[in-house]
Amino acid sequence: MIKYDFRNADEKIIGSENGLNIGHEFEQYKDRIKDIIASLNQRKDKPGQKLQWLNLGYNEETLWYVKEYASLVEGRFDNILVLGIGGSALGGLAVTNALLKPYWNLLTKEQRNNFPRIFFLDNIDPDEINSLLDILDLKKTLVNVITKSGDTAETMAQFMVIKDRLAQVLGEEEYRKNVVATTDKQTGVLRQIAEQEGYKTFVVPDDVGGRFSVFSAVGLLPFALVGINVDEIINGVKDMDLALKNTNIHDNIAAQNALIHFLMDTQKGKNISVIMPYSSKLKYIGDWFCQLWAESLGKNKDIEDNPIMTGPTPVKAVGATDQHSQVQLFNEGKNDKIINFIRVEEFETELEIPQIFSYTGIGYLGGKTMNQLMNAEADSTKVSLSDYSRPTVTITLPKIDGYHIGQLLYMLEVQTAIAGALYNINAFDQPGVEQYKNYTYALMGRVGYEDSAQTLQDRLNSFSAV
Ligand code: PA5
Repeated sequence: MIKYDFRNADEKIIGSENGLNIGHEFEQYKDRIKDIIASLNQRKDKPGQKLQWLNLGYNEETLWYVKEYASLVEGRFDNILVLGIGGSALGGLAVTNALLKPYWNLLTKEQRNNFPRIFFLDNIDPDEINSLLDILDLKKTLVNVITKSGDTAETMAQFMVIKDRLAQVLGEEEYRKNVVATTDKQTGVLRQIAEQEGYKTFVVPDDVGGRFSVFSAVGLLPFALVGINVDEIINGVKDMDLALKNTNIHDNIAAQNALIHFLMDTQKGKNISVIMPYSSKLKYIGDWFCQLWAESLGKNKDIEDNPIMTGPTPVKAVGATDQHSQVQLFNEGKNDKIINFIRVEEFETELEIPQIFSYTGIGYLGGKTMNQLMNAEADSTKVSLSDYSRPTVTITLPKIDGYHIGQLLYMLEVQTAIAGALYNINAFDQPGVEQYKNYTYALMGRVGYEDSAQTLQDRLNSFSAV
């Protein structure tokens, strides 16, 4: 199992101004945490609670269909192109980057064991899309379009461009074999198109929000298509789920990290949560976590609809890279952050630094390994942060494999749900995203948004009048 260490957030290490009396707080909050976990466990099967993501580890049917389809198309495609944005893309990006060999898309087919390259298009930048279209042989590309709502402007605009190109090179009939859609089982425009055109489809289950969907077909299908062992990931999710059903805070690492972050924010003024993996393979876990934490916890109403303003700001960093970028700020800037280190005990490979220079400044490096250097850098950054009374917690993965990545992501999801309950907010909606979406529809002339178009024009005029 992955390990969690909170000692450097304790007042015994960093002083009472910035640290918590964690033993005392666990005692104080043990009943509240017990209620929160029990309530999550009780409500998870109830429709409308948006908690179906807690059951994704047990969805044998999806797992079976995903593996069956992946084996059916194995060897047919050189590229997988995933179209999606936000929760429909970030989990896929994070996990493939963690579990595939680095520079996967640059490896030869043999080096990839005949599995395809994978590209995630999670933006609408015309230069990026045009460049990608220049290099992809669309005849050899399987397009996985993912949108739960089925009408997200960014994803559907991408799909319209790609579908048009696919049909040009393959013909209006044949192109359909190169499309697989992941969307709601009934509603949404993509579902209508898929049925009309006869695409293979996978379902984003009800009551699973985008940012909690990585263990549904949203993530599992792209993983299986590039040869990632999805059973291993799901085994990690299940084992972590079992551990996190424990209502005792002393045995539940997601509850511990949620509570420590909540108290750091509300009692110690640390309203910035930094996620800092010491591994390039884990760097997109930071992007995925930022969305999860930000969209779930940034709210202006509590559960009872009282106006509030809450939400710790997530920040991503990568060790050792960001030691030369953000650590100056973390050490000496405003003491308003809690830093989550993610460590890896055992890298997949070892790399020795050759003894080729004997200069005093660098000679000591020769004969050591990059692995030793990485761990020494993580240790020294932790100690220096502690010298400056900055709180840190550390999550340690024995190694980067599907089993532990499944555990890590699932733990962070449960941690977010528990934090939402501690803040007394709904962690599973995102009303703040709707406003700009409506304005975009209005600007782009979508039928039914004429009133918004007028409001938008008035607002833009008022800006220029200032
Ligand atoms: O977490 C969320 O719900 C969002 O980030 C969505 O994933 C994102 O807006 C994309 O939505 P959809 O899957 O409907 O295209």
